[in-house]
Amino acid sequence: MGAKEQSPMSSVPEETLIVVKPDGVRRGLVGEILRRFEAKGFSVTRVQMLTMTKAQAEEFYSVHRKKQFFGELVSFITSGPVVGMVLTGRDAVATVRRMVGATKSWEAAAGTIRGDYGLGLTDNTIHASDSQESFAREQKTFFGK
Ligand code: CMP
Repeated sequence: MGAKEQSPMSSVPEETLIVVKPDGVRRGLVGEILRRFEAKGFSVTRVQMLTMTKAQAEEFYSVHRKKQFFGELVSFITSGPVVGMVLTGRDAVATVRRMVGATKSWEAAAGTIRGDYGLGLTDNTIHASDSQESFAREQKTFFGK
């Protein structure tokens, strides 16, 4: 059995980070988003509301530094409070990304968070780590340690 393969009976918990973006917080979606992840079976092991500084946002989104939308992204994510949560559970990174849905909210499947709650791109309600490496960097940047 390969490293990534798991026996159907075993469950190795993994961590991921989600951030409810300023549009999600302004629209009162924090409770609904938290409810979906808890109902799915994830444990919320860390949670914090904060307004990101420009430096924090630039580090958080450092993989997008060269993209033409980087300025808009940093300006949006620092525009108001966000809520970050560490979710722990089976195959958390991939499972949470499926629940979040496609980046372009208008294309995201019904039943996903972006598919059900928005039409935006920069303002696409929620961010979720795309790998364990991203999770490690994003968690450090978001919580400070
Ligand atoms: P997120 O999952 O937070 O990761 C990077 C973000 O960049 C993405 O969601 C979008 O909100 C934002 N973004 C803005 N413009 C684009 C674009 N043209 N392509 C992809 N992402 C974009």
